[in-house]
Amino acid sequence: MSIDKPLLRVQDLTTVFTTPGGRATAVDHVSLELRRGETLGLVGESGSGKSMTALSILRLVQPPGDTHGGPIEFNGRADLLELPERDMRAIRGAEIGFIFQEPMTALNPVFTIGDQIAEALLVHGKATRAEARAKTIELLTAVRIHDPVRRLRDYPHQLSGGMRQRVLIAIALACQPLLLIADEPTTALDVTIQAEILDLLEEMKERLHLALLLITHDLGVVAGHADRVAVMYAGRIVEEGPMRDVFLAPKHPYTQGLLASIPGAAPGQRLHAIEGTVPNLAKLPPGCAFEPRCPQRFELCSTAPPPAYNVGQGRAARCYLHKS
Ligand SMILES: Nc1ncnc2c1ncn2[C@@H]1O[C@H](COP(=O)(O)OP(=O)(O)OP(=O)(O)O)[C@@H](O)[C@H]1O
Ligand SMILES: [Mg+2]
Repeated sequence: MSIDKPLLRVQDLTTVFTTPGGRATAVDHVSLELRRGETLGLVGESGSGKSMTALSILRLVQPPGDTHGGPIEFNGRADLLELPERDMRAIRGAEIGFIFQEPMTALNPVFTIGDQIAEALLVHGKATRAEARAKTIELLTAVRIHDPVRRLRDYPHQLSGGMRQRVLIAIALACQPLLLIADEPTTALDVTIQAEILDLLEEMKERLHLALLLITHDLGVVAGHADRVAVMYAGRIVEEGPMRDVFLAPKHPYTQGLLASIPGAAPGQRLHAIEGTVPNLAKLPPGCAFEPRCPQRFELCSTAPPPAYNVGQGRAARCYLHKS
């Protein structure tokens, strides 16, 4: 697979919010690549810019947010940021499926789930009205909803949280996308249901040979389900690499702190959360954004934001500790 050209290649993607409090760079020169059949986990604390990265790729950031930079190469297109909105609309929900974090944009309470899945097919011309019902049943079966013929007529409130998430996955996959962006797909669910949903995503990824951008604040989710991981802090990717390598030997003090704060990560040891809080994006320190919280900081760290240093095969870390 690794000789494949990436399906998605994002370079220097930047989204800035201009607010009365100042300019907040929510996504700061983010670059990432994703191949078909590969899962990239995007992790970081709340407010680090994970959702904004997803929305920026989809060009769904609302004012006062402004997205620029790029290019965003996707499936043979040179730059999604340059496409007319019309073309972008044809890509969203079709070539790129997504599951949003906000429950607001999830299921519509006044339509049956059958209608909502059918709508996803009809909007992109993937089925005629006559075909939509059979395809909808097929999709509900694929996401393991029992008795799909009866479930078609249910409204969202008649379903459990886990079932609703299955329906959202069915909608996201209705048009057989190449890329699925799943933003905190399991955060609102019970632990046992979380595992089922993650297994389902994995199964669908294999079956459709999808590229999956899995966004979560939960390193446990990434550990079990991603091939590569990108760690975000204050709008920047501060560490990236193969999941196993990053977990076994994290190179950025922030990643080290995140790992140390996973319950059960270090048996017998006190759970240790990273001290301090995520900085105000409109008032970042002049050097590394993590410097004020970093237990390993030294003089260089407060001078300028560190560049990405190569820290191993396919690995990078934005940290002066790795300056050679
Ligand atoms: N409408 C807005 N106006 C100003 N700043 C905003 C706005 N929306 C988002 N931001 C900024 O973007 C940053 C990143 O937000 P984002 O939603 O991407 O975080 P996240 O990593 O997804 O967090 P979470 O884990 O809580 O979902 C926020 O910290 C905030 O500073
Ligand atoms: Mg988010």
